[in-house]
Amino acid sequence: MIPDTQQPPAGTAAQPVGTSGTRAAPGAAGDGPTTAAADIKVEVRDLDVYYGTFRAVKGVNASIRARSVTAIIGPSGCGKSTFLRTLNRMHELTPKARVDGKVLLDGADVYDPAVDPVRLRRYIGMVFQRPNPFPTMSIYDNVVAGVKLVGRAGRSELDETVERSLKRAALWDEVKDKLRQPGTSLSGGQQQRLCIARAIAVEPEVILMDEPASALDPVATLRIEELIAQLRENYAIVIVTHNMQQAGRVSDETAFFSMDEDRAGYLVEFGPTREIFTNPRERLTEDYVSGRFG
Ligand SMILES: Nc1ncnc2c1ncn2[C@@H]1O[C@H](COP(=O)(O)OP(=O)(O)O)[C@@H](O)[C@H]1O
Ligand SMILES: [Mg+2]
Repeated sequence: MIPDTQQPPAGTAAQPVGTSGTRAAPGAAGDGPTTAAADIKVEVRDLDVYYGTFRAVKGVNASIRARSVTAIIGPSGCGKSTFLRTLNRMHELTPKARVDGKVLLDGADVYDPAVDPVRLRRYIGMVFQRPNPFPTMSIYDNVVAGVKLVGRAGRSELDETVERSLKRAALWDEVKDKLRQPGTSLSGGQQQRLCIARAIAVEPEVILMDEPASALDPVATLRIEELIAQLRENYAIVIVTHNMQQAGRVSDETAFFSMDEDRAGYLVEFGPTREIFTNPRERLTEDYVSGRFG
């Protein structure tokens, strides 16, 4: 749910974000949200992304489900990372990057001027390609870095957050006796799980991962994939991967992006992973997943 930074106008009841918003207005009495709609966590409508005058991504419409893993695949440069970063407004940290279109979290516009992007990123967290623990911080402090940013928490509360997050990130047993050691003293795979623990610690609802295992060895990669399988019970996960086997292993749904002659990335096909890999609708998808290009 998006932080409710905007006060409702006087005299109106505050509407819970997530049950209202831009979604189709309820019609006759008794109309509830359909199961499918209630399942949608993030909705993207007519999204274009620009770097200056260059349009890197065009015309994306997509619905990302709660409690599921959505993989984004496609050739290098087709805008996978660019698209991912627009979901939590991370692209705003890139000079001259801008978007047209809508991104809705629980039906509420994340680009609403009243939404604070820093708070938004608490609800939609991100894990990057290279593990990036804060180099001067201990394992413990890395996990709670985000928590400390967003509010005051007492010592015992922080201790609980550290233990819970590291357990969820499948790292607790390996580090519980050395929480005060630097985060950078861990192996690459452990550092990446530490970054996942840091993302989880602020209790997000969506976790974005940009090729989170591509810098890791096969064993560490497998652990990350197992972890993703566990996390999907609680979060909507969107993972960019250039590894099609990985997309097949970890995801429920797959979005295949490609590039037009104008170099703009676009969404070719989006559907259940099994269908994308075994029975795609588009010839382009078939060529890509069968290794004929990319
Ligand atoms: N900061 C930036 N400034 C300008 N162009 C960029 C920037 N980042 C990415 N691009 C361009 O946008 C396109 C999509 O890049 P990217 O999203 O990184 O693709 P992918 O993740 O699919 O490999 C590419 O043409 C790339 O060169
Ligand atoms: Mg990328």
